[in-house]
Amino acid sequence: MNDVMIEARDLNKAYGPVHALRDVNFEIRKGEVLGFLGPNGAGKTTTMKILTCFIAPSGGTAKINGADIFEQPIEVRKSIGYLPESTPLYPEMLVLEYLEFIARMRGFRGDEVKKRIRTAVEQTSLGDVISKEIRALSKGYRQRVGLAQALIHEPSILILDEPMSGLDPNQASEIRNLIRSIGRERTVILSTHNLAEVQVTCGRVLIIANGRIVADDTPDDLRDRAGQASYIATVASPESGYRDAKFETQVSEALTQISRVKTVKKAEGDTSDELQFHVLPKDNHDVRADIFKAAVDGGFVLLGLEKTSEDLGAVFRGLTTGDVSESTAGSRKSKGDADAHAANEERASQADSDENTSEES
Ligand SMILES: Nc1ncnc2c1ncn2[C@@H]1O[C@H](COP(=O)(O)OP(=O)(O)OP(=O)(O)O)[C@@H](O)[C@H]1O
Ligand SMILES: [Mg+2]
Repeated sequence: MNDVMIEARDLNKAYGPVHALRDVNFEIRKGEVLGFLGPNGAGKTTTMKILTCFIAPSGGTAKINGADIFEQPIEVRKSIGYLPESTPLYPEMLVLEYLEFIARMRGFRGDEVKKRIRTAVEQTSLGDVISKEIRALSKGYRQRVGLAQALIHEPSILILDEPMSGLDPNQASEIRNLIRSIGRERTVILSTHNLAEVQVTCGRVLIIANGRIVADDTPDDLRDRAGQASYIATVASPESGYRDAKFETQVSEALTQISRVKTVKKAEGDTSDELQFHVLPKDNHDVRADIFKAAVDGGFVLLGLEKTSEDLGAVFRGLTTGDVSESTAGSRKSKGDADAHAANEERASQADSDENTSEES
């Protein structure tokens, strides 16, 4: 059985001189709740608008539930419920009027309109505010109206652009529970810059930065990676007060060649006399002796070697700024949904207290 619901192939998007997406590829399977994580301007909204046929890519294509975005846009729109970044709600309308309007736009008539609204209102717990004007609702309730509009045609896929943004912890928690329960029967993509949010809501994370996918992983594996030890190697400049790019490359290459080292990056904290390198080992190996030996063999002077532990924010920043470790992309291992769900429940309370720690680069 082919259960691929979303397939993006070599998506590229240029807005004039701005290259917003570069060769974006991914697949999303039935039943996945995928977090699309990235800093401002990374390309999250652009990707979502392409998948929902609001804009066309400059290159590449996508299939939604088997339908091509260029060839079968109407089929695509039938399969998808979309909550845009800023929901175009009509503030002067009553909630009921608005949902009726959406149901008619979706082509429903007569009793079917009522039936669809009843189901969507039940799913999003909007019963109490159905006769209120949209402008009188809190942001959390407005977000529910946005979700109800996305659900009205009972789509198999939901694409939610920052559904939790601007909500207080209580409202965010309610919307999160709502998304989880909706996600049991559907495929969901939600975008966010909040790392904690992804951890509690999603079974899989795609991280995007500068228009490229830089990681595809489970939240647990991302967290494991965060617990890893890494090392800051401080190296003496070849000549005092002189920065030499060639020397920098030479040291970086010598460290990269250590077999138990995964990645080497330039660390902040250089002075005119010292250069610092951030060394991430494979499988949590202690590579201090290897680094020392590389310094001796390479003829550079090691002034300091410090062990650090990466936190999750550092992993995210490492992935979304500067060079990206090639070993991180496409490293996803599948895990049981039940496991992920249980672990997520555990983290939910932490994210509630952490709601505003969005990780922006
Ligand atoms: N209509 C547009 N015209 C020109 N440039 C655009 C347009 N829409 C987006 N961009 C640019 O494309 C890049 C990606 O933007 P996009 O809105 O997809 O990012 P995002 O990840 O959704 O960011 P945010 O977290 O701020 O919502 C940015 O550099 C942005 O400035
Ligand atoms: Mg956006």
